[in-house]
Amino acid sequence: MRKKMVAGNWKMNKNLQEGVALATELKQLVINPKCEVVIATPFIHLATIAQLLKDSPIALAAENCADKPAGAFTGEVSAEMVKSTGAQYCILGHSERRAYYHEDYDILREKVLLALQNQLKPIFCIGEVKEEREAGKQNQVVKAQLEGSVFNLTPEQFQNITLAYEPVWAIGTGLTATPQQAQEMHAYIRSLIQQKYGEQIAQDTTILYGGSCNAKNAAELFQNPDVDGGLIGGASLKAPDFLTIINAR
Ligand code: PGA
Repeated sequence: MRKKMVAGNWKMNKNLQEGVALATELKQLVINPKCEVVIATPFIHLATIAQLLKDSPIALAAENCADKPAGAFTGEVSAEMVKSTGAQYCILGHSERRAYYHEDYDILREKVLLALQNQLKPIFCIGEVKEEREAGKQNQVVKAQLEGSVFNLTPEQFQNITLAYEPVWAIGTGLTATPQQAQEMHAYIRSLIQQKYGEQIAQDTTILYGGSCNAKNAAELFQNPDVDGGLIGGASLKAPDFLTIINAR
């Protein structure tokens, strides 16, 4: 049985004190979740929040890591450093990283490998932009993203990957994919995994939906057989909303 998951992506929000307050609130609210619950926080929050979450079912993720293992890369944070904070997951390939920081297939392939080498589980994001969807190219785009950065992995490595389908036109826009659009794409992604790694791994891979998923629409999206949970941006910044989404899973 594949893992169900709800992951929050705080992005560049909350200073350290605000982040600690939100994590404390979530720790009190999330007691016996029926799914894996993850929060992804800015790097500087990780060490403090990892301590805070020690006796909680909530797991911790970074939102990125460097594409180099160590050395003279001013301002970067390595996968090893992330791991040393106590975080267990690392979001990679988010569309904001691809678009604003020019992270291409090759860079992301390196990041995924470094995360895995450091026992961090990647939450790898894929998804098309609006023009690509309008041109009917969404399947092509998502396939190329998978082939470019994660289909090089061995089956053993790939089993540590969680995928997040995030249509870029739905992120932070209030324009959610319809449950049908989400299901179609998730089933397509699972068919690609099946072709590459076989039926068992395809059935075991967790595929999250992200993009304006909120307390109101989560249950409907999660009802789809191939939607295993959500990667939640804006709605993960308010504990009661995030809890409603967790409970919808
Ligand atoms: P959103 O962001 O829920 O605010 O649309 C999702 C994401 O970018 O992961």
